[in-house]
Amino acid sequence: MMVAAEAAPLAKSGGLGDMVSAFSSALSLFDLDVSILIPGYDCAFDAVVAPSPIGYLRGLPGGDARLWRAAMPDADVTVLLLQMNHLYAGRGNRLYQDEQGREYLDNFARFASLSAAAARIATGVRGVKRPRIVHAHDWHSGLTPLLMKLAGASARSLFTIHNLAFQGNYPVGLAPYAGIPAELLAPALREPRSIEFYDTLSFMKAAIVYADALSTVSERYAREILTPHFGNRMEGVLGMNAHKLTGIVNGIDDALWNPQTDPMIAQPYGPDDLAGKHACKKALQQSYGLHVDPFAPLVAIGSRLCSQKLADVVCEALPAALARWPRVQFAVLGQGDAAIEQNLRGLAAAWPGRLGAHIGYDETRAHQLHAGADILLHASRFEPCGLTQLYAMRYGTIPVASRVGGLADTIIDCPPRPLSDRDTQCAAVVDATGYLFDGESPADVFHALGRALDAYGIPQQWRVIQRSAMRRDSSWSVPAQSYLDLYRTLAGAARRRESPPACRGVPRVGWARAPVQRIRRSA
Ligand code: ADP
Ligand code: GLC
Repeated sequence: MMVAAEAAPLAKSGGLGDMVSAFSSALSLFDLDVSILIPGYDCAFDAVVAPSPIGYLRGLPGGDARLWRAAMPDADVTVLLLQMNHLYAGRGNRLYQDEQGREYLDNFARFASLSAAAARIATGVRGVKRPRIVHAHDWHSGLTPLLMKLAGASARSLFTIHNLAFQGNYPVGLAPYAGIPAELLAPALREPRSIEFYDTLSFMKAAIVYADALSTVSERYAREILTPHFGNRMEGVLGMNAHKLTGIVNGIDDALWNPQTDPMIAQPYGPDDLAGKHACKKALQQSYGLHVDPFAPLVAIGSRLCSQKLADVVCEALPAALARWPRVQFAVLGQGDAAIEQNLRGLAAAWPGRLGAHIGYDETRAHQLHAGADILLHASRFEPCGLTQLYAMRYGTIPVASRVGGLADTIIDCPPRPLSDRDTQCAAVVDATGYLFDGESPADVFHALGRALDAYGIPQQWRVIQRSAMRRDSSWSVPAQSYLDLYRTLAGAARRRESPPACRGVPRVGWARAPVQRIRRSA
């Protein structure tokens, strides 16, 4: 059973939602019985297939809940919807923040309830098959492993870190509402089992300390988060738990993101016949109000507009790039920080025909952006995995990206020196799928873009890079197998255990196994 705050297309704010759904769907093809427990947002109820009520879960941290079973559209995956209207309904697609970008005041109750519901299901509730593995994703479900241990669940837990920057840190005084004993909030220096983190109760720390196994979404990010630069102050906790941490690079839903069959793009195309990409480029130029010019290098920028994505730095680099390369065009799709959104609107007004910006969230447009562009400019201060560059490569759009995390794991960098026609067949070019750069300044972005534009000017070479990028296997088949191995190890360890699971070092005395919760059938 997956536990997550997002699962596309039911609810999505970024890559987490894509990953949870595509991964679950891939696992179901291995004949695994997969379900996803997700908050009962309105958008989730609207998107699922055949919802039917199962029963009630009483007394969660945020109150009583009704549990529903439904199916994922187009996948053999069960969805368990946690209906708590006072916590999840009436907020549109805004999963975590209000319209002003402020975190919801009740997020503690919203996500402690999600975690507690998962722990209940893990101990057994009538009407739901008891999971053997509970796989929780990101801080929203971070209390799950601890609450499972406290309830004496025999299922094993895996926790995947998608983004360490978001940790779910709350006042320690809230602990009793989540059923967490006071001794687990003792200062961490004195109490190694504590989930206290710089005077807060941390969902992320709880997950890292209490999950049976930990993973993150690329190998490089798994190493990076052990350092102060990328660790977001969690590097010490992670260091102590590094023995159970693995990095597994995400796959993508390669049926949904396939230029040969994508109904959202102007014309289909594939690695052996790129003609359709020209039609997609023209359509993109038209929809963004750019000059229709088949030879103009068209650069896409598509991401959350925030500091993680270096969006402020990229904005600073844009005027110089527009001035330096008079034919280059930019198409921007994103939403996020108000100041960055404003900046981009200003640039679009100042550079008509050269820079177009769509501020907002638009799934169809994201497909069209990848299909129509030549280059994806994807800067990041840190990138746990990144799916955007994987989508771009599949559509023959060459990423220019920061050398961090999953970007560095998934993009093969072109040789640094300027290349000539003769270099087209050299191995370094044949293997390359994009451009990686170091640094976080506008000059670094500008310079990296220049390298890609130089290669774009040599069409033969560009085609080679495009084909390699399009042929990269970004499917879930290999990573799903790695997760399966992890599950098997966990399940095997569970079978071998003689006594019921205990948190390492946590006394069982006084921690009565919670009675198996029965879900009362709805009327
Ligand atoms: P992150 O999860 O950090 O935002 P990823 O690259 O893993 O980064 O995933 C981002 C996902 O969100 C991709 O599916 C991307 O297409 C999508 N996305 C981001 N911003 C937008 C937007 N404004 N409109 C449509 N899709 C978007
Ligand atoms: C997070 C990360 C992103 C990753 C995604 C899916 O949102 O920021 O890098 O691709 O999760 O794992």
